[in-house]
Amino acid sequence: MTFEEMLLKRESCRAYDPTRPVTREDLTKICEAGRLTPSGCNSQPWRFLAVDEAEARKKLCDALVLESGRTGAPWREDCNAFIVLIEDEAKLMPGVAEYYGTTQRFAQGDIGMACLNMCYRAMELGLSTCIIGMADQKKLREAFAIPEKHEIRMVLAVGYPKEDKPARPKARKPFESVVSFNEWK
Ligand SMILES: Cc1cc2nc3c(=O)[nH]c(=O)nc-3n(C[C@H](O)[C@H](O)[C@H](O)COP(=O)(O)O)c2cc1C
Repeated sequence: MTFEEMLLKRESCRAYDPTRPVTREDLTKICEAGRLTPSGCNSQPWRFLAVDEAEARKKLCDALVLESGRTGAPWREDCNAFIVLIEDEAKLMPGVAEYYGTTQRFAQGDIGMACLNMCYRAMELGLSTCIIGMADQKKLREAFAIPEKHEIRMVLAVGYPKEDKPARPKARKPFESVVSFNEWK
């Protein structure tokens, strides 16, 4: 598959096949894609917490529902694996943090890149993914004993899709409205 084909094929999957578990081997490969991602000053400000056992999955699924009852993943129970992406303290090169006033300036972008690398690696393995931005931080922290100082940035759902369907057309802003050459437009 060419990279262009991958760009058009990757999409958020919101219907998983609950009968097909994700192997530990594949989850490991996906986490490895995260680990190999570039980051500001090579600071690697991330931790990846893979969840594939029934009890842990139940705790994770509970945390995907906010106190208000809202959830970004109503389909969560059908998904057999998740990876929680957690921000870690970034150690930047001398002068960089001083300039920006924070060591975490690049961390969210770095974690976003890691997440997308993981999505593409999963896709290569025949798996589908959905990035979940909404999760109850307190419940997640308690469920997995994640220390207070670590911000939980996103949860990546990983599983086999319920159906093999052709990719949806991409709903994106027009090219001209987001790209300009040599001047701000
Ligand atoms: C930071 C972030 C948070 C997201 N949170 C959710 C979510 O909670 N639930 C969901 O179904 N999709 C979520 N998505 C998926 C986006 O809705 C999706 O990527 C976007 O609509 C583009 O569609 P595509 O991924 O199918 O190309 C999230 C994506 C990102 C990058």
